[in-house]
Amino acid sequence: MTLIPELTILQPDDKEHIDLPRTLEDELAVGKKRLYIESYGCQMNFADSEIVAAVMRNAGYATTSSAADADVIFLNTCAIRDNAEQKVRHRLKHLTGLKRQKPELLVGMLGCMAERLKTKLLEEEKVVDIVAGPDAYRDIPKLVEEAESGQKAVNVFLSREETYADISPIRLNSNGVTAFVSIMRGCDNMCSFCVVPFTRGRERSRDPFSIVREAQDLFDRGYREVTLLGQNVDSYKWSSEVLGARSEELGEEHASATPHSSLPERRPLAPNTNITTFALLLEMVAQIHPDLRVRFSTSHPKDITDDVLHTMARYANICNYIHLPAQSGNSRVLKLMNRTYDRPWYIGKIDRIREILGEDCGISTDMISGFCTETEEEHQDSLSLMDYVHYDYAYMFAYSERPGTLAAKKYADDIPEDVKKRRLNEIIARQLSHSAERNQRHIGQVQRVLVEGTSKRSDDFLCGRNDQNKMVVFPKGNHQKGQYVNVLVTECTSATLRGEVVNE
Ligand code: SAH
Ligand code: SF4
Ligand code: F3S
Repeated sequence: MTLIPELTILQPDDKEHIDLPRTLEDELAVGKKRLYIESYGCQMNFADSEIVAAVMRNAGYATTSSAADADVIFLNTCAIRDNAEQKVRHRLKHLTGLKRQKPELLVGMLGCMAERLKTKLLEEEKVVDIVAGPDAYRDIPKLVEEAESGQKAVNVFLSREETYADISPIRLNSNGVTAFVSIMRGCDNMCSFCVVPFTRGRERSRDPFSIVREAQDLFDRGYREVTLLGQNVDSYKWSSEVLGARSEELGEEHASATPHSSLPERRPLAPNTNITTFALLLEMVAQIHPDLRVRFSTSHPKDITDDVLHTMARYANICNYIHLPAQSGNSRVLKLMNRTYDRPWYIGKIDRIREILGEDCGISTDMISGFCTETEEEHQDSLSLMDYVHYDYAYMFAYSERPGTLAAKKYADDIPEDVKKRRLNEIIARQLSHSAERNQRHIGQVQRVLVEGTSKRSDDFLCGRNDQNKMVVFPKGNHQKGQYVNVLVTECTSATLRGEVVNE
């Protein structure tokens, strides 16, 4: 009987498109079984877990935040670097202990590592009962049933169409203010170091109507920020012919399940074309409400357009922040990486961002140290690119060879680990000083901050992000999460801005 409150605490006012139980009996049935889901890797994986939770709820499972209480445990895994996989293997060891105490417990591996290793996972990790790739989540209740009958269950088929457009995610570990919205899946770029095209399959975009509807629904439920997610958002593309057919399907299917979410009046079509581009989609989401902030990730330097930058400039609620991963600052290495741009092209994009959006626009990057054959001078080019841009933030990695990728097939992983690490440390040190410098710029400025919750360090302080995605901490006063406040920044570290609220 303690199960219903738990369900309500997690999602007090869900409005799923898929049918929710309505009667008390149904509620009790939902409470019968519990799902615990743990996510690794990128934001897209976290967003996918919310889709899985929705599918499983429809199959009668409530989510729990305690692995020990669960009947089914899913690990939604990442395969991007070897250490991401090692982390999951380590976690499985712990789950083996849990399963010994509770033999009926089912353990499922989802996501990119599941897709990469397929049935090999079942051979290598005896504790695993279910293996489901990123396009198999609708099939998960069936896989669970199979596993309950004592068989190992696997579905790792990749799809050319699946976008889960009609499934309204159940927000897990949500602050109730910010949410991720997937706008596309897969990736058609073949960066030579990257496993994603193999684990996520072909790129496909999601119906723009379903995206706007999801964002509108979030806004109606009190959320104030959405981050539009894709591996390469600038190649988002939806053609009206497909749109016509799919929207009819979606409209009919969901009309009764979601009476409160109406379709937007605006047509998502560019003038004189039948294509919805990313710039247009961004605009459609921004138009939902001026108080709904819009972020997006990831932008690919080869594809980001002036159109996107001008759209950002036109809407105050599209955040002034771009994640534009360079990976390397050297043109030869970029060519080996198959990134399809070179250093001058990348610098051109940075200049364009500064021109159209100003010096204050936040820019972040991903950097890889020690890619195959990278020389000391080429590594210096990465540092000098960082000096040119002065990134606000960076995600930095030592190259990790991934089986099956183009680089693994074509090039020797010939930079010794200690050299990769040393180069990585140099990149990190450079970034720390740039982050500190970029944060200093805000001292004395008044920043508009969306309050996300109390500060981790102290209950007397609140925290939230500014336009450029920087965390700002300030005394609580009478302010609450979900509100916008103006904060005068008085001090900073390389990670955080601090200040006080100046006017309501
Ligand atoms: N779609 C995004 C990247 C997604 S993966 C883009 O194109 O920018 C996130 C980051 O992980 C990449 O940007 C890259 O910096 C890093 N990464 C990917 N494969 C890697 C590998 N084999 N070794 C080290 N880092 C890697
Ligand atoms: Fe990987 Fe490149 Fe696709 Fe990003 S764009 S997911 S790095 S293949
Ligand atoms: Fe990892 Fe897959 Fe994301 S490999 S980074 S979880 S797309």
